[in-house]
Amino acid sequence: MTDRTDGYVTDVGYTHGYYPELNPLRMRLALLHAGFRVPNIATACELGFGQGLSINIHAAASPVHWYGTDFNAAHAGFARQLAAASGADIALFDDSFEDFARRPDLPAFDFIALHGVWSWISDRNRTLIVDFVRRRLKAGGVLYLGYNALPGWAAFSSVRHLMVEHANRAGTEGRGTAARIDEAIRFAEKLLATDPEYARRNPQVLERFEVLLEEDRRYLAHEYFNRDWAPMHFETVARWLEPAAVRYACSATFNDHVDFLSLTDRQRGLLGEVHDPGLRESVRDFIINRTFRHDYWVKGARMLSEPARAEALRRERVISVVPRLDLPFKVRAALALNKTGPGEAVYAPILERLADRRAVSLGELEQAVKHKGISLTQVLDTVMLIASCDHIVAAQDDAVMAAARPRTDKLNAHLIERARFGGDITDIASPITGGGIHIERLEQLFLAAFQQGGTRPDDWVREASKVIAAEGTLEGPAVDLAKRAQTFAEQTLPTLRTLRIA
Ligand SMILES: C[S@@+](CC[C@H](N)C(=O)[O-])C[C@H]1O[C@@H](n2cnc3c(N)ncnc32)[C@H](O)[C@@H]1O
Repeated sequence: MTDRTDGYVTDVGYTHGYYPELNPLRMRLALLHAGFRVPNIATACELGFGQGLSINIHAAASPVHWYGTDFNAAHAGFARQLAAASGADIALFDDSFEDFARRPDLPAFDFIALHGVWSWISDRNRTLIVDFVRRRLKAGGVLYLGYNALPGWAAFSSVRHLMVEHANRAGTEGRGTAARIDEAIRFAEKLLATDPEYARRNPQVLERFEVLLEEDRRYLAHEYFNRDWAPMHFETVARWLEPAAVRYACSATFNDHVDFLSLTDRQRGLLGEVHDPGLRESVRDFIINRTFRHDYWVKGARMLSEPARAEALRRERVISVVPRLDLPFKVRAALALNKTGPGEAVYAPILERLADRRAVSLGELEQAVKHKGISLTQVLDTVMLIASCDHIVAAQDDAVMAAARPRTDKLNAHLIERARFGGDITDIASPITGGGIHIERLEQLFLAAFQQGGTRPDDWVREASKVIAAEGTLEGPAVDLAKRAQTFAEQTLPTLRTLRIA
């Protein structure tokens, strides 16, 4: 390893994930729900952007001017290719964090984001990042940090230790990362198969190991086999961030905003007794055995008065991203059983109003259901609840959408063209949401055929079949393809139209 990599895996490329928590538009609703003033985001920065799908989608789909770095030159090269396709004005570097922080030409940022980086780098790099945030995040600006958390990783950390020790044992240096990872995993599998006392006492380890066996090797290399791997308790991270002068604002995970659904009465009661915000987060992490935290932190945070918060919330817009908007059965059942949170009399009219596939502001929603005696607070609870099911997302203004559309069209055309050669990207950009939307490879192939003038499901099946046949994997799934094309016509395509993708 060279000094520049500082123990980080660089000979295996990472996966092409998309992470909505890095979308500044999504951040608004979370912060306002928690009562914080939300800054206008003009400049943003992603540190360790990986293959750069998130930064590219966010830069193409919004007016935010993004900067970012990832020292893996192959990652940066791929990210630049996406930027060239969309024509978005993104500044992408292949600097190490250290070199990037020294650049004289960086602006001050309204938003700095790191996803899946913090836990896998050295203390020295964490210190560099904290200093970068201290110097480069504007007052009022937001830091997004996504990292491996404790106690969720506590039991499995010994399996990770064992695998890394195996991969690094003497005499294996020449084997290459991929081969050493495979051997290490097979070794751990053999050990766990001997029914060790450790696994008996920590049975959840076996479950997690089963999941690991199914994971993409590129993900495994970056998740488990870096020299540094440091899941942290919330308060440890809070101490790390103290020099950056940021304060914890709220979770970027909407599930954490709907305690009435995700926690029992006793758990909510206990959390209510804990007044220290840091300890409260740790208690919450114990309650749900959290393995990953997605958090927003604010520099010089300012709370809004209740009327100012209500005013700001009324302006936020949301849009449905599912074919038929409803709450999942288990959510409806839990609400009815717990008798907490919005009941059916509240959520049903709100769902009905949201179902027309147009962006609607919370103020408009409030007006639409006011005659039923539903308050803004209930509207907000319901909106957060539906958002926690990923059925609605934040929507930007029509003018912003119109300006972003040419860039998202170009980026999406490039991504769905790529789908002919592989399925590693499963998110494309929406100019309405300023972010990505999940779409499987087959649906991308259908979308490509649709955009090339194929109007009927048969046309899409024919085009997709050509691609699959060329790969030699088309063995009688014609019925399935036809069914999928029908579902695409009835469900996916209307949603893609709503999101100004098709
Ligand atoms: C686990 S990956 C996460 C990538 C991306 N954020 C995501 O979630 O898909 C961590 C990334 O950080 C980059 N990285 C690690 N250490 C770095 C450093 N010192 N300077 C710049 N980039 C670094 C790696 O190359 C890698 O792409």
